[in-house]
Amino acid sequence: MEQNNAVLNAIKTRRSIRKYTGQPIDDALLQEIIQAGFYAPSAMNRRPFHFIQLTDKALLQQLCDLHPYAKMLPQAACAIVVCGDYSISGAFYMDDCAAATQNILLAAHSLGVGAVWCGVEHTDWQQPFGELLHLPEQIRAYSLIVLGMPAEAKEALDRVEPAKLHLNRW
Ligand SMILES: Cc1cc2nc3c(=O)[nH]c(=O)nc-3n(C[C@H](O)[C@H](O)[C@H](O)COP(=O)(O)O)c2cc1C
Repeated sequence: MEQNNAVLNAIKTRRSIRKYTGQPIDDALLQEIIQAGFYAPSAMNRRPFHFIQLTDKALLQQLCDLHPYAKMLPQAACAIVVCGDYSISGAFYMDDCAAATQNILLAAHSLGVGAVWCGVEHTDWQQPFGELLHLPEQIRAYSLIVLGMPAEAKEALDRVEPAKLHLNRW
């Protein structure tokens, strides 16, 4: 097994971090983390993603009130809402935003920042999120990434399932 590859190491050790110390995230680190989203692949290279950095505590609390599975938000240092422009990519914005979300998670993890992907697409709170964040009509909130300096450590898991590996045909 490859032990020294930084990308593989980040992929294999990333976990959802939902407990935070309350310390702020260094702004230079945070900008690196957000910018990683722009490097995601996108259908026809249309790059429909937009990223909203949320630091306003009152806003984080309002999002928490809307999102039943993001109760870690009030303890977070900040959050990022990954949004996609439906008018330029149609439904492909979802695939593109998923790739951007994973890039951000891996960047955060590799820089020692805790993060968790909270679902917004396909939920009842997608529309109210859009209203709260004043999104234009063609912009959809796709995911909410909650970030903070980690106050929990999670072990890397062996997640490879050989029964789900297929060669040539099912
Ligand atoms: C599309 C999607 C939606 C998710 N939504 C939530 C969520 O709303 N709240 C949450 O705490 N975690 C959420 N997660 C994180 C998953 O629970 C987590 O990735 C999974 O349990 C595996 O754990 P790990 O990230 O530590 O490897 C979501 C993950 C994905 C990919």
